[in-house]
Amino acid sequence: MHAVRRVVLLGSMASGKSTVGALLARRLGWPHLDFDREIEREHGRPVAEIFAEGGEAAFRSAEAAITPRLLRTAPAVLTPGGGWVTNPGVLGMLPPDTMSVWLRVSAPEVVRRAVADGGPARPLLQDGDPLDRVERLLRDREPLYRRADLHLDTDGRTPDQVAADLEARVRDRMAGTPEATL
Ligand code: S3P
Repeated sequence: MHAVRRVVLLGSMASGKSTVGALLARRLGWPHLDFDREIEREHGRPVAEIFAEGGEAAFRSAEAAITPRLLRTAPAVLTPGGGWVTNPGVLGMLPPDTMSVWLRVSAPEVVRRAVADGGPARPLLQDGDPLDRVERLLRDREPLYRRADLHLDTDGRTPDQVAADLEARVRDRMAGTPEATL
């Protein structure tokens, strides 16, 4: 039994991790640390540029390098990028006072959101048919996401609804005991 002092949101790109993470952090009064933003700050350039210059391998080693520092932070809501789980051993590095959550989203919904928000460039969707790419990424990564403590569906739900649901679950686990337990 461990105090919950950290929430880590896992899931595909466009599952809403960063948006939900910011909303959840505000609700809990905890800081929100987004891995992609932290990498951009440290490297002084956008994720898309790190991909363009050094490929996915360069980006993964940047992710792996900042992981120990970010995982030590508490209390905090942490939102790694969708492929962070593929860095060997990182899930095993989650401290025991961490609640990990898989924000589930279907492949067509990922493509719909990625097109709709036109937001941050998503280097891994640049080549080939996006639906095919997303389906393959999800197939490869789902066994890793599945290891999260909690699985939450996000299709058809707003980030605010997901954040409110999550806040209730985090508070539930903190209720009833001074040692918020998992
Ligand atoms: C990636 C997801 C992105 C970002 C990078 C790689 C991935 O983050 O880290 O483009 O491998 O799925 P989001 O999940 O926040 O889009």
